[in-house]
Amino acid sequence: MKIALNGFGTVGKAFAQILIDKAQTLQKEFDLDIQIAAINTRTRGTLFNPEGLDLSKVLAQSNFTGMADATQTAFKDIITHDVIDVVLDVAPTDIQTGQPGLDICRQALSAGKDVVVASKGALAVAFNELQEKAQQTRSHLLYEGSVMAGTPAIRLAKQDLAGCTITEARGILNGTTNYILTQMETGMTYADALQQAQELGYAEPDPTGDVEGWDAAAKILILSAALFGLQLKLSDLDVTGITQITPEDIAAAQAAGERYKLVASVTAQGGSVKPIRLPLIDPLANVGGATNAITYRTDLMGDVTLIGAGAGPRQTGFALLSDLIDIHRRG
Ligand SMILES: NC(=O)c1ccc[n+]([C@@H]2O[C@H](COP(=O)([O-])OP(=O)(O)OC[C@H]3O[C@@H](n4cnc5c(N)ncnc54)[C@H](OP(=O)(O)O)[C@@H]3O)[C@@H](O)[C@H]2O)c1
Repeated sequence: MKIALNGFGTVGKAFAQILIDKAQTLQKEFDLDIQIAAINTRTRGTLFNPEGLDLSKVLAQSNFTGMADATQTAFKDIITHDVIDVVLDVAPTDIQTGQPGLDICRQALSAGKDVVVASKGALAVAFNELQEKAQQTRSHLLYEGSVMAGTPAIRLAKQDLAGCTITEARGILNGTTNYILTQMETGMTYADALQQAQELGYAEPDPTGDVEGWDAAAKILILSAALFGLQLKLSDLDVTGITQITPEDIAAAQAAGERYKLVASVTAQGGSVKPIRLPLIDPLANVGGATNAITYRTDLMGDVTLIGAGAGPRQTGFALLSDLIDIHRRG
């Protein structure tokens, strides 16, 4: 299986390292040999070798210029090359426009390539269009890493719960905000908890996307399309972040035997992201720190809750691997 990889940051590199570490296991357990044939970055150049790149060498380089496999060929021309089977997008994307991943997904699917994304933008903006394109060209579009990293939130809903009707998904889909709310329960102010989250690398220097709820909202757009076929826009969602939550709010919830959580939810009628006081008997109320969770409400199984990592380079690298194994099994 030959891969073209867009983006080689923390996730792209962790994925490459997983391929090195797991090469023998993949061969033995799945008869699967995954080769990365192309890597594209924003500032460090592009690599292409139809035979497959030497990942140990690539990981040792901070810049690709001067490497034997460095190329001036545009990535859009590489992804349609005969040798490429699967195109992976692990670069940052704009959740308003879906770019640059959206164009890459369109080109790859139009050329009949399978596509795997950990980025959210393309699917948040054009899930239905991309799924239709995949059906037309009989290619696969998989996106496990876009919601809860490698914790199999998508696979649980689409494969394991297939046959159940899912009527609602509600979850803690952003680790940064859950970490901040958990710390505020120890008496910290919002500002101090945010600063601590930034020092630990959970929050970006500009935390707006997380704390105002937009990251969780993008995941709700993906879930609304994946579960209910609803192609919503960010402006269709009711989105409130956690910036207005005070220590007094947290204390009042605690006194009532409840906990504030930033709950992202979606039904066939629409979606929202907002801080909600949950009773402690709700499984989501007991998910602390940067951990994520999702509860699917179903007709045959009642509520099914999945708890696990929602981010992390290795966890997201695993999401990519799990999608590739899925594609390999589908044949
Ligand atoms: N980190 C996580 O835990 C996590 C979890 C789930 C999903 N994701 C998603 O995975 C993606 C990658 O995250 P990351 O943490 O690996 O990001 P990152 O460390 O910032 O790396 C981004 C990579 O993408 C490249 N890039 C940036 N803009 C590009 C463009 N326009 N065209 C081609 N390449 C471009 C960068 O190039 P340079 O090397 O030249 O800078 C870099 O190699 C994001 O969409 C993120 O939302 C991340």
